Amino acid sequence: MTSRTHSASPYMQFAKLHSAATYNLASSGILPCSISDLPVKLEDLDMNGPTLYGYAPLKERIAKWNGVTPEHVVCATGTSMANHLAFAATLEPGDEALVERPTYELLVTTLQYLGVNVRYFDRRMESDFRVDPEQVARQMTPQTRMIVLTNLHNPTGALIDNSTLRAVGEIARKNSALVLVDEVYLESLYEQRPQPAIHLGDHFLVTSSLTKAYGLSGLRCGWVLAAPELVERMYRINDLYGVYAATTADMLSVIALDHVDRFAARAKQLLDANRPVLEAFLSSRDDIACVRPEFGTIAFPKLLRRSVHDLDRLLRDTYDASIVPGHYFYMPQHFRIGIGGDPTMTEIAFQRLARALDEMR
Ligand SMILES: Cc1ncc(COP(=O)(O)O)c(C=O)c1O
Repeated sequence: MTSRTHSASPYMQFAKLHSAATYNLASSGILPCSISDLPVKLEDLDMNGPTLYGYAPLKERIAKWNGVTPEHVVCATGTSMANHLAFAATLEPGDEALVERPTYELLVTTLQYLGVNVRYFDRRMESDFRVDPEQVARQMTPQTRMIVLTNLHNPTGALIDNSTLRAVGEIARKNSALVLVDEVYLESLYEQRPQPAIHLGDHFLVTSSLTKAYGLSGLRCGWVLAAPELVERMYRINDLYGVYAATTADMLSVIALDHVDRFAARAKQLLDANRPVLEAFLSSRDDIACVRPEFGTIAFPKLLRRSVHDLDRLLRDTYDASIVPGHYFYMPQHFRIGIGGDPTMTEIAFQRLARALDEMR
């Protein structure tokens, strides 16, 4: 019997066990809402509902939110399970996936867990971390079955425009491959959010959730948007994992989507307060370089001298503050910071980051 060699995520262990700090710049999402932020009474909820292959009212809301029909929607436990289902339904062991680098580690470890061989194409800081379709084309092989992108890009926050997505789609189509776009951070464009990439054709799959942009991670409301025959396959695979989500959580997610504007307004307030603090911090430093993202909740500065490992240790040990070291994204000289937290906390966190950097000079 062969054994699975890739069955853990070092990043997820870091995120769950080691990223907490009073002054937290490690979190990539908006400050979590509490249940009292949802306009709901206990008697509005139930534990049981018509959930076979997706809770129908939730599928309808997600479909409407994304401008597709419910036949294109797989309800999933966060973008995490959405990615897992999308990969498992479309790729076989021994297939190859072409993944952007730097990237969100779970994309890579999930593919490897499924026996898929991972190749990379680079998104370079010198080109503002844009996707270069020529680079993508160069890295394709006859075995490449999927190109994997994040939009906004985790860790840099860079936006991929539609013409680039189309160009990548053409490269995939010529190879009979698919494009998966993880759009969990695209939600943080709020009313400026472009149409999901599924609208560019059936060779695109989109994954997303309410977890990052609205402070609603606890609901685990995620989805895949895909062609209906793939949707069917994903629901059959989901039967082998968690069967379906807790109905009560699905009902709360319906209420959240019916009131999504209020969560967007709350999130924008936080980002509007924190982005100038990030900008001022970046402008004040000559020991880091950063492509400044226009949108979203994250940025990925490069430490020009000294090691990110030492910075991480110093912040943790002396300043009760946290960042995400760049090695988790395959770019060790960088670190990721998040600006979706409480504004007072965020301001102090940046002061502490500045003090730690000064101490390292
Ligand atoms: C690109 C990307 N996809 C998926 C996830 C996981 O999202 P969720 O909490 O919706 O499972 C994250 C979390 O950091 C992420 O950065």
